[in-house]
Amino acid sequence: MSSGKDPLPPYFSIDPAKAARRLADPIDTARFARAAAFAARGRQDLAERGYAPDGNKRLRRFSTWEICRYLIPVAPAHFRRVLRRFPDLPQGVGEGNSKWFTLEDVLRLRDHFAAEGAAGREYRPWRPEGLPAKTIAVANFKGGVGKTSTAAHLAMSAALDGYKVLVVDLDSQGSMTSIMGGTVADEWSTAFPLLAKDYALALQDENRVREAAGQPPLPFDETLTEALTITARDVIQPTHWPNIDLLGAQLNLYWAEFQVPVWRMNLRGWPLWDALGNALRNDRIVNDYDIILLDTPPALGYLTINALAAADILLVPLGASFLEFDSTGRFFDMLYSTFASVEDGENAARRREGLPEMRFEWDAVRAIITRFDAAQQTDLANVIQAYFGDFMTTFRQDVTAMVGQAGEQVNGIYEADYREFNRDTYVRGRETFDRTWAEVKELILGTWWRDLQMEQAERAAGTEQADG
Ligand SMILES: Nc1ncnc2c1ncn2[C@@H]1O[C@H](COP(=O)(O)OP(=O)(O)OP(=O)(O)O)[C@@H](O)[C@H]1O
Ligand SMILES: [Mg+2]
Repeated sequence: MSSGKDPLPPYFSIDPAKAARRLADPIDTARFARAAAFAARGRQDLAERGYAPDGNKRLRRFSTWEICRYLIPVAPAHFRRVLRRFPDLPQGVGEGNSKWFTLEDVLRLRDHFAAEGAAGREYRPWRPEGLPAKTIAVANFKGGVGKTSTAAHLAMSAALDGYKVLVVDLDSQGSMTSIMGGTVADEWSTAFPLLAKDYALALQDENRVREAAGQPPLPFDETLTEALTITARDVIQPTHWPNIDLLGAQLNLYWAEFQVPVWRMNLRGWPLWDALGNALRNDRIVNDYDIILLDTPPALGYLTINALAAADILLVPLGASFLEFDSTGRFFDMLYSTFASVEDGENAARRREGLPEMRFEWDAVRAIITRFDAAQQTDLANVIQAYFGDFMTTFRQDVTAMVGQAGEQVNGIYEADYREFNRDTYVRGRETFDRTWAEVKELILGTWWRDLQMEQAERAAGTEQADG
């Protein structure tokens, strides 16, 4: 109840003259440089007080309980028996029955069980030999919807499962790079030189044609010459996870958004959307890894377009709110117009040259609800689900206190030590990300299987032709 004496809310009685006196002079560009310099000093200060990651992330160890519960399908008693019987296997550290193992240990133990354990048990996840990695882009035009969290957790789940994972950070904010403990000095350690190289190769081709026709070559600058010497392997770094590597990002990667259209203006025939995918294929990165995860910025810029074009599977996280639903609908609309206009332009040119037409194709696309609060959002989520239909997973990733809250050294559920959490919080938090992985793993395995059938059918058709 108002007593009649409550003070007015703070936005009444503001005196414009006083407000003007409190203002500093108008801001010029140089002021930003000063703000940045102060921030850099503050950053140093915070780092000295122990607030910043030290750049030497270490992955925690995994307990016997955790291994038998989540990682290798064996009973603890049997697990201990096997360790006793094979003293050369990693024995873990710690007192009593619960030993703690590094992930390298876990991977070795899994190999042992895969070779010697009970037949018919899935010690190692399925992966068809000889087929390329599955590339998964996590994208949404909307910011803060859980792209990076989803991609990071998927990378870690896949790694715990025993897959070899590459994470590509295409967001110049570099959040994924921090999560993976990466160090990126400048744009030359990001995806930028791979895009530059793709353009440089296209430009070389063009110049050969021009030379043959007696035309002057298009200019070839230092950036392009240097980019030609770089391969994807040069920019990929290991992480504190033994089976996750990183192609990192840093603020300068944003430069690509300005540079790519300039290159395209210069050479209209350059298929700029294929640059990243070409690099991953030509440098045989798709043969070195099982799963490649692309984290994208909250924009449909050239980096995101490259990620989408390189992807087999597209995941679109969104929260169950009106604004995120609305914005995600627009994102699909933008995807349609962007890729349809690329197809139209390309195919017009291809028809003129008598070449076969091209079209973009994805193995699977799934919107996924993130940060879901069943008590508040079930209605909205059901409606969203009805509209997206099979474009959406039926599974919803719950909001959990375990994400975002962990310290700088630890990111997300898989890096956190379960002993530091209330058991229910841990089990529920872990389950929601385990199920996210299960949904995506099902898509990966299903599409690999489909590829394998197609490959075998093609090979059979080829043999028939050879026979006939
Ligand atoms: N399941 C979850 N439970 C609780 N918090 C979450 C969950 N998923 C994400 N978050 C939090 O939501 C915020 C945004 O998540 P995230 O950074 O993954 O989004 P993003 O889409 O990558 O953002 P950006 O568009 O800036 O790249 C972060 O603070 C993150 O910790
Ligand atoms: Mg992000």
